[in-house]
Amino acid sequence: MQTLTTVVELRANVRAWKRDGLRVGFVPTMGNLHAGHFSLIDLAKQQADRVVASVFVNPTQFGPSEDFARYPRTLDADAAGLVEHGCEVLFAPTVEEMYPDGADNAVRICVPGITTILDGAHRPGHFDGVATVVARLFNMVQPDSAVFGLKDYQQLQVIRQLVSDLAFAIDIIAAPTARAGDGLALSSRNQYLSATERAIAPEIQRTLLAMRDAVRAGLALESIETEAASRLAAADFVVDYAVIRRTDLDEPVTGQRDGLVALIAARLGSTRLIDNVVLD
Ligand code: PAJ
Repeated sequence: MQTLTTVVELRANVRAWKRDGLRVGFVPTMGNLHAGHFSLIDLAKQQADRVVASVFVNPTQFGPSEDFARYPRTLDADAAGLVEHGCEVLFAPTVEEMYPDGADNAVRICVPGITTILDGAHRPGHFDGVATVVARLFNMVQPDSAVFGLKDYQQLQVIRQLVSDLAFAIDIIAAPTARAGDGLALSSRNQYLSATERAIAPEIQRTLLAMRDAVRAGLALESIETEAASRLAAADFVVDYAVIRRTDLDEPVTGQRDGLVALIAARLGSTRLIDNVVLD
């Protein structure tokens, strides 16, 4: 595997592959890679002949009081894991390479509507930062396909809208959520949890599964949401939202039972966790 830090080197590699008629897959990440990220690499390898992974902690998607400075940076371990999973190129640009005129002066992509609800409402500007960096990365890598995790369900929808509206010729592939044995969705942020918080955290997935069962049993969606929020509060979470939405994240219509997704964002101490279950 080659580790590249400049767009010039990246383009030279990708151009050579494309000249040989090879399909290029791409997995964007912020590093501190875990089994969830590696499952995306494995999926990318199934769909493409060569895989590029990026590691870039993107300043434009963090709010002023969020964890940009302390976000874990573990490039050597990330590179070793990527080699193990057969990744061909690790693209790890500096902030200057990604935003030559400074992050504040960069052209920004604003995806309307979907970016202002749920996580977008709790993290203003977050999804515009994600769309901005992903659009730049897509233009830098020019992949045929890119893999994103269902773990960040709303992010995946934002990316789908970005690709459709800006006519990127890239297949977006959704990867299932990788979980610890006790059901907690793997996340770089799990390491912020104390031992006590870590023991409580799987309650998020248990609550999502209870929401799914209640939908199947025909209970009213509103009461399912209320019950989920109080269950989480009783387990010491501060709940940002515990909701049932259509899979396009619009509000469900009355009586709707299919094409739904349950989503939770909740904080344990200073750590914010998100998870979801598609109810099919
Ligand atoms: P990051 O949080 O590093 O996640 C990179 C990719 O891994 C995302 O597509 C995310 O959904 C996926 N992922 C994370 N945890 C997962 C899990 N437990 N199972 C399956 N997939 C998982 O998401 C970002 O970075 C950034 O916003 C990024 C898209 C790179 C833009 O900066």
